[in-house]
Parts: sequence; C-alpha cells; structure tokens
Amino acid sequence: MSLTGIFLVIFLVVHCYVNANVLFTNGEENFNRAAHFMGTNLLIRVTEIGLFAGFILHIIQGYKLEWLNRSKRSSRYAVSAGNTTSKWYSRSMALLGTLILIFLIVHLAHFWVPSRITGLEEVVYDGKQYHNLYLEMKNVFAEPWAVALYLLGCFSLSWHLLHGIQSAAQTMGWTSKNYFPFIRSVGQVFSILVPLIFALMPIFMHFGWEIDLGSITLLF
Ligand code: HEM
Repeated sequence: MSLTGIFLVIFLVVHCYVNANVLFTNGEENFNRAAHFMGTNLLIRVTEIGLFAGFILHIIQGYKLEWLNRSKRSSRYAVSAGNTTSKWYSRSMALLGTLILIFLIVHLAHFWVPSRITGLEEVVYDGKQYHNLYLEMKNVFAEPWAVALYLLGCFSLSWHLLHGIQSAAQTMGWTSKNYFPFIRSVGQVFSILVPLIFALMPIFMHFGWEIDLGSITLLF
C-alpha cells in the first residue's frame, strides 16, 4: 500500500503542476501544449499503464486491508473509543478512498475518455494541431454540480493523504525521532496544498478567473 501510494503521490505532483497552467493568463495555450506533451510522449504513455495498474493495486489492497481489519474482530466494538485513540480520517480510509474512487470514475469519463478514445475539438498553435482540453474543462466546469463533485473529491483526497502519507512513512520504517516529525510536517503541508491547488481549478474555470503574471511564463 505504501509503495503504490508513494507512486500515486508522485503522479499527483506532476498532474497538479501541469494542470495549474489553467490558473494563469495564457493558460489555454500553455495547458493544451503541456497536455499534448504528456499525451504523446512515449515514456509518459508507458508510465500511464503503470499508473493505472498502481491505482487498481492500491484500491484492491485498500479494500483487502479493510476487510481483514473487520474480519479479525468477530463483532464490532461495543463502544467506540472515538477521537481518544485515533483520528477520524485514519478510521475512515476506506470510506474516503471510496469517495475518491467515485470521483476518479467520473473524472476519467470527463477528460481521459474524450482525450484518448472518443475525441476532442482541435486547436492550432504555430500550424500544429492540439486537443483543446482547456475548452473541455471550461465545458465540464460550467456545470455547478461538476464543480461541487470536484471540490468534494479534493476534500476527500486531502483527508485521505493526511493519514496515508504518515502511515506510509511508518510502514517504510522512516520513524527515527530525528526525521519523522519533519516527514510528518512535509506530509501535512503536501496533503493540504496539492488538493487546494486542484480545488482552485474548477472554481477558476467556472468563474472565468485567472492570475495575471504579466510577461512571466510560469510553467512548462
Ligand atoms: C481537481 C482538478 C483536476 C483537474 C482539472 C484534472 C484534469 C484532468 C485532465 C484534463 C485529464 C486528461 C489529461 C489527458 O488526457 O491528457 C486528467 C487525467 C487524469 N486525472 Fe485529473 N484532474 C484533476 C484532479 C485529479 C485528481 C485529484 C486525481 C487523482 C486522485 C486525478 C487523476 C487523474 C488520472 C488518473 C488521469 C488519467 C491519467 C492520464 O491521462 O495519464 N485528477 N485530469
């Protein structure tokens, strides 16, 4: 679980970095070009297979672990110890993971399926054709229910990561008194920052907001 989780965390950083283009001026062209690179680079396409395998493995392992935990107890606890022994999010990894899974299925249907299978509108930059994924995002996030679903997905992701990263560090044995508090703090900042940047995307797209950086081209 830890290894697949760490792999997925690396994917999230790249995904967030590429998509963050849409938050800035000239985001349409920058994002479409970046997404084109990600969608056509052979190495990245091969990694994509690993990514899907990683997701599936992580989900199966998660449900297996939850099932084992439940079946080890013949009956559920008569009295819940509540927050005295564990945090809510550590007791609810399966529930949060399931919410993320629902988000992910809708999410892939929104973007991955049109981008890879059913086709998208094209746009031309410097005489070359690109998928207009930016326009697809605009269309998806014009719907308030989609914005709400993505915000719920980002919130679930944040809570899931808050426990997951710390738990992965313990499983990997990175528990030395010297650096465990540091790893935990970095994990907490990551668990809040990355889902927050993701959450800004549907909001910015829905309201047509963008951050003006003047002549600075920030990403990619
Ligand atoms: C909330 C803001 C998000 C936006 C706007 C967004 C947007 C996109 C877009 C446009 C694509 C298609 C890329 C392409 O086909 O070239 C994509 C793919 C994908 N997204 Fe997201 N995403 C978001 C959050 C997330 C989160 C939180 C996760 C994981 C928990 C995630 C997982 C994926 C996966 C697995 C793919 C397919 C990977 C691939 O194309 O290689 N996304 N996303």
